[in-house]
Amino acid sequence: MDSLEFNKLAGGLLVGLLLAVGIGKLGDVLYAPDLPAHAAVEAGADAHADAGVGDHGEEPAVPLASLLAAADLADGESHFRKCKSCHAIAADDARGTGPNLYGIVGDAQARDATFSYSGALSDLGGAWTFEALDAFLANPKEYARGTKMTFRGLSDAEDRANLIAWINTRSDAPLDLPAVEEPAAEDAMTEEELEARDAAIHGDTVDETIAAAEAAADGMAAGAGAMIAVASAEAGETVARKCKSCHTFEAGGANRVGPNLWDTVDRDIASIEGYRYSDAMESQEGAWIYDRLWSYLMDPRADVPGTKMGFRGVGDEEDLAALIAYLRTLSNDPAPLAGTR
Ligand code: HEC
Ligand code: HEC
Repeated sequence: MDSLEFNKLAGGLLVGLLLAVGIGKLGDVLYAPDLPAHAAVEAGADAHADAGVGDHGEEPAVPLASLLAAADLADGESHFRKCKSCHAIAADDARGTGPNLYGIVGDAQARDATFSYSGALSDLGGAWTFEALDAFLANPKEYARGTKMTFRGLSDAEDRANLIAWINTRSDAPLDLPAVEEPAAEDAMTEEELEARDAAIHGDTVDETIAAAEAAADGMAAGAGAMIAVASAEAGETVARKCKSCHTFEAGGANRVGPNLWDTVDRDIASIEGYRYSDAMESQEGAWIYDRLWSYLMDPRADVPGTKMGFRGVGDEEDLAALIAYLRTLSNDPAPLAGTR
């Protein structure tokens, strides 16, 4: 057998091996939520509160957990100006017209024994969970009929989430933010998009695949590009469920908490028209080439300090490679794989 044939054989074996490993990982992905379990319980505790109801009529409501995860703390702090005339929030400051709010998130309602609360508030008897605060601040009088907090509320769900996330930081022990739930329904894709995607997933020629596997075999240190080239886009689609609470994936899909991700590979960073990026993201140069996607999605906040993407990253390299391989397929003209240019 000449050496070319041997390489092909070795390449094929490698692909098979990586696929098998990838499929083994699937189960983990499906059942491994990203945040600690007790945070998930908190999120579920008040599932019936109309916490996530948006103010924009037709737009689907973004769940509170997603808004909190993507919260802009600086913006939240600026909204506290509306509370300052009545509330102190530094640990040792005396209360004002209203009680001190240091460490209030997660603490008991009407907790300050020296403050004379209205019956409306002292009868509540629960805790200021994220959901309870969201409902109270949306409309204090409706949440606690008879409250003496004469504040008409913050109608914008995003403003409230930013504010609550910031208040949560004013504490000796800030709570974990609630887990972001993965939506059950698949995002609707048109026939054409599905075809384009399937073609991209399955249509790579055998030579392309082997070349990619060879590139990977050439040195496992060859890095992100090589791992992505041999990764399973189908496995990546499962990993991408982690993103769906904040991102749409189909062509022309709406921006949600994060921008639409159709055609992301090789697209300029922060280039989606009409989406408000963080300054941190806005100031990044270049395009989402494989290496950039790799380091950002591995650990968003380390890669782009100040990003408002409230997602802690995909730490597992195989999952990450599969995810990016899947993102690559979301295009009418998928970017070339590393090693095949
Ligand atoms: C005009 C004064 C005023 C403003 C403005 C105001 N509050 Fe209050 N707040 C109060 C008073 C008074 C109470 C006690 C209400 C009661 O006993 O019914 C209260 C109670 C609260 C509580 C319950 C605290 C506890 O110990 O259970 C929270 C939380 C709260 N306010 C948050 C806010 C936030 C956040 C803002 C700004 C978006 C705000 N308030 C704006 C006066 C105010
Ligand atoms: C909790 C919400 C949330 C989740 C979950 C999330 N993202 Fe994001 N994503 C965002 C936000 C918000 C931004 C904008 C970041 C900024 O401006 O700093 C963003 C930005 C991005 C960008 C940059 C896009 C551009 O146009 O430059 C990429 C790529 C991306 N996300 C991919 C992903 C992938 C892949 C996942 C899943 C593994 C994911 N995100 C999960 C909220 C989220």
